[in-house]
Amino acid sequence: MSKRTGLKLGLSVTSNGSHAGGWRDPGVPANCSLDFPFWRDLARRAEAAKIHFIFFADGAAVRQGADDPDQLRYIGKIDQFEPLTLIAALSAVTSRIGFVATASTTYNEPYTIARKYASLDHLSGGRVGWNVVTSWSEAEAKNYNLETSLQHDVRYRRAQEFVDVVTGLWNSWEDDAFVRDQVSGEYVDPTKLHVLNHKGEFFSVKGPLNIARPVQGFPLIAQAGSSEPGQQLAARTADLVYTAQQDKAAAQAFYTGLKARVRAEGRGADSVKILPGILPIIGRDEADARARHQALRERVHPKVIYAMLEPKFGDISGYPLDGPIPDLPETNGIKSIKGQLDAARAKGLTIRELYEASGVGGHRQIVGTASTIADLIEEWFQDEACDGFNLMPPYFGDGLDGLLQWLVPELQRRGLFHDDYTGHTLRENLGLPRPQHPAVRTR
Ligand SMILES: Cc1cc2nc3c(=O)[nH]c(=O)nc-3n(C[C@H](O)[C@H](O)[C@H](O)COP(=O)(O)O)c2cc1C
Repeated sequence: MSKRTGLKLGLSVTSNGSHAGGWRDPGVPANCSLDFPFWRDLARRAEAAKIHFIFFADGAAVRQGADDPDQLRYIGKIDQFEPLTLIAALSAVTSRIGFVATASTTYNEPYTIARKYASLDHLSGGRVGWNVVTSWSEAEAKNYNLETSLQHDVRYRRAQEFVDVVTGLWNSWEDDAFVRDQVSGEYVDPTKLHVLNHKGEFFSVKGPLNIARPVQGFPLIAQAGSSEPGQQLAARTADLVYTAQQDKAAAQAFYTGLKARVRAEGRGADSVKILPGILPIIGRDEADARARHQALRERVHPKVIYAMLEPKFGDISGYPLDGPIPDLPETNGIKSIKGQLDAARAKGLTIRELYEASGVGGHRQIVGTASTIADLIEEWFQDEACDGFNLMPPYFGDGLDGLLQWLVPELQRRGLFHDDYTGHTLRENLGLPRPQHPAVRTR
């Protein structure tokens, strides 16, 4: 089989690095999450490294620890910029890199989202994407007039309709609808206007949108839910899928399954790029990488570990962190994951190791040099477990620099990753088609 090339790389960044101990690294400005010059430099450095896009996960709430001051005190991921606002600013200080920002279909209205992303697509010259999420946290529900979250299936029905309304609004005007002829005085050709007139289960939206069709036709659509309805939504509407995969076999099964669903929707398998997250802790040599990993581990405050384990395993803060996992009775809270807990205990893991084994958000973590990390990336890519990766810097400063300065050149040297941007829009750079306006398609 010939060697695959054209690996796609995103950089998935959260307020101050993906690892819970990352913000305490002495090389990272402690206040970086709200420091715009820091983000400007980060975006420019990622662009210099030819990263395809920067990905901003988000939630409209303090999602962890808000109700427990004792835990909240040590959780370093509380404050961050609202991502659409941030990417508006970042797109003005960069010219080639893309930006994918998360926005919820549960706590927004489609007209607002269609309008904002269309504006951002024009502002950036076609470099933005929308990460469609249905939002899982109770904390968000309570910020948006609800006592509790909508049911999972309702959230996804709403998401399906939401995305259809947004894309329908983006098609309000054909690409050449705005004539703007100063001599004749004709501003727009009304025969190229398509009023949506949508009435559905959740939304009633007349349209049209008060902005021309986005530069990319549609801004790129990303999706991250991996349940059955999540995959169905992705297969029908997404261009990019962000997923959490721990091992290659599971990633291959996810990849094959999702590509089959994409084909079943009448779309080309290559029209959806699948990028698992990966959290690489990179060092100059193996010993350096291990030392950095150890330093990161030690910077996770014990209260943060107990706080992270609590939603899954209940309150185990009475047991020592480096002691064995207790034999907890089966309660409602831990019913479904009792097996997981027993397996970890059988392996002799400590509580700290149980936390570490569950990974950051379920993503694969790897500790090594540019070469060993590139080996894993190359193997997954060649064996069709992915189309690329969303790199999750565990901490900024040299945790990010190592990825941009050592890993990326290694991937380029192997002929896997591009040497430069070939297109101008995010879709062009990712090899994704620009959606045609349906009126043009049928002409
Ligand atoms: C890799 C990955 C990244 C995600 N990023 C976000 C995010 O930034 N914001 C959010 O509210 N939910 C995020 N989610 C949650 C999903 O959008 C979804 O709400 C959740 O996974 C439940 O849906 P599911 O059952 O289809 O997986 C993410 C999920 C995954 C797997």
